[in-house]
Amino acid sequence: MSEAWIIEGVRSPRGGGKQGVGSMTHIHPQRILAQVLNALQERAGFDPADVEDVIMGNGSGVGDHAMDIARMATLDAGWPVSVPGVTLHRFCGSAQQAVNVAAMSVMSGQQDLVVAGGIESMSRTAPLSVDGFTANNAHLYAQYPLVPQGISADLIATVEGFSREDCDRLGVESQRRAAAAIDAGHFKRSVVPIHNDDGTLALDHDEYPRAGTTMESLAGLNPSFAKMGAMNPPNDTRSFDEICKAVYPQISEVNHVHHAGNSSGVVDGASALLLASPEYAKSRGLKPRGRVVMTATAGSEPVIMLTAPAPATQLVLKKAGMRKENIDLFEINEAFAAVVLKWQREMDLGNEKLNVNGGAIALGHPIGATGGMLIQTALDELERRNQSTALIAMCTGGGMGTATIIERL
Ligand SMILES: CC(C)(COP(=O)(O)OP(=O)(O)OC[C@H]1O[C@@H](n2cnc3c(N)ncnc32)[C@H](O)[C@@H]1OP(=O)(O)O)[C@@H](O)C(=O)NCCC(=O)NCCS
Repeated sequence: MSEAWIIEGVRSPRGGGKQGVGSMTHIHPQRILAQVLNALQERAGFDPADVEDVIMGNGSGVGDHAMDIARMATLDAGWPVSVPGVTLHRFCGSAQQAVNVAAMSVMSGQQDLVVAGGIESMSRTAPLSVDGFTANNAHLYAQYPLVPQGISADLIATVEGFSREDCDRLGVESQRRAAAAIDAGHFKRSVVPIHNDDGTLALDHDEYPRAGTTMESLAGLNPSFAKMGAMNPPNDTRSFDEICKAVYPQISEVNHVHHAGNSSGVVDGASALLLASPEYAKSRGLKPRGRVVMTATAGSEPVIMLTAPAPATQLVLKKAGMRKENIDLFEINEAFAAVVLKWQREMDLGNEKLNVNGGAIALGHPIGATGGMLIQTALDELERRNQSTALIAMCTGGGMGTATIIERL
């Protein structure tokens, strides 16, 4: 098997995802991604004509995100028409899956130069829907009455006994670490500026974090998913909370602990990494920053939905012949506080090596783009600390988890 070298990675800033408030909401997602692709090309100095595929994750696939956004953004970037693009969807794990697929392709020897990452303008996607996951398939719904992700996160907290305070503590720590990372310039290596169509600067830094967040400032926030929990999905006489109780009879009620300060932020953003075979890279003088060691994907019960990061972590470690002690840094996506707490409980790990620059609660989680961002953050941090190995894992819709182990070269 060949190796998949990571030559370079860049990302847009995470811009606020509320229309009229965020600094990139007016920019078409194809344009945001095209600018990231061109920044990657400028940074790494490769010939776009040699790129064999541009694989991009996206969790929406409709409206301005529709029609194979990877191909459209590649054309918008002005790359040769010979460069194809493909968009893939594994919900929140889409960009990580794109990088994993690119790595598999390069490692198998089928392709030599692949760009992978993702894009999501959450400001353009519909607000969190209460119908949705089973896409009107009554047969599937009868087996798995999937609930919205915020309800699933509250269900994890309830089943596991995580309190509102436990979740708030994680939210405060995410903000504290993100603020320290921003002050120290830790994201400067990966973030590239995004410009408006007239060439003026739109945004050059993550704008979602709220430095100075405390337990006291979070204490006053209302749970975000309690009202939703009392609502009925279409074609079901039960509320979402009642569905949770039916699937998890050990609970007497759903404890709605998640809110804006301990859930991932709704933001816009894009990411892209360049992966190459050693032979191609050497022949073009491209220096590797790292390599993909192993990838894995796992599934878990889909109503609670967000519990597969630990099984994915265990699987990727097993496949790589490694133990958790061999990993220097972990990036576990902070989709919701309870997701990370559950991962920590299952993995029996503290937070010393975990999300050391903060996570999506502070920084935001642009669904289909986040995986690429996490891999870059991990690689940047390995370089900064002169360490070797990082493991990145995410939960996704539908009850899945994605995982990647990278090694600095
Ligand atoms: C949780 C969620 C619904 C909150 O959305 P929202 O209510 O629009 O959030 P807002 O940004 O308006 O914040 C709500 C309030 O909390 C406040 N707030 C947010 N973060 C805060 C913080 N860190 N400290 C103090 N206050 C904070 C806001 O100022 C706002 O106050 P206001 O109502 O007085 O203006 C939304 O962030 C969400 O859906 N996140 C998860 C997204 C998701 O599911 N991704 C996929 C994961 S698998």
